[in-house]
Amino acid sequence: MTDRRHIVLIGMMGAGKTTTGRLLADRLRWPYLDTDDEIERQAGRSVPDIWRESGEAAFRKEETRVLADACVSSQSSVIAVGGGAVLDPANRDVIRRHALTVWLRADVSTLALRVGTGNGRPLLHGGPASALSRLVSERGTIYAEMAQLAFDVDRMSPPQVVDRILQALEKADPVR
Ligand code: S3P
Repeated sequence: MTDRRHIVLIGMMGAGKTTTGRLLADRLRWPYLDTDDEIERQAGRSVPDIWRESGEAAFRKEETRVLADACVSSQSSVIAVGGGAVLDPANRDVIRRHALTVWLRADVSTLALRVGTGNGRPLLHGGPASALSRLVSERGTIYAEMAQLAFDVDRMSPPQVVDRILQALEKADPVR
């Protein structure tokens, strides 16, 4: 059964999920939640620290818990998830049940520009460009499968992306 009251933004690191998500939430007057921020807030540690001290599996466990808590909330919200959240079938299931999913799609060159040195993103430590290109090819199919809406954000600013999302929502009225 689906009960889609939230909007979940998915996509790679550097796609602009956080900035776009905040703006979209402002425009809808809905609360905004970023799973990475919420994990950091609850743990009192940064994502790279959790990753280094406790490992990726511990981070993913927290991601699953925070995402599930956000999705079961009865109040509609905009939720931006980390780029790897949709790799876990349990996360995909909870997102599908409770949210409309919007994919912010961008070329590797755009992502590489936006993440810079990759600081604060453990998966990019070995060199952002090659890591991004590998992750994009590993994850592209999953993002595409999950998304009810997808936007190519390479040549759009976050406010333009938000306008496009709102236009699409008005047409389809899928969550309101
Ligand atoms: C990750 C993306 C990051 C963060 C973590 C892992 C990934 O979030 O969750 O470093 O697996 O793609 P952003 O996509 O918000 O950068």
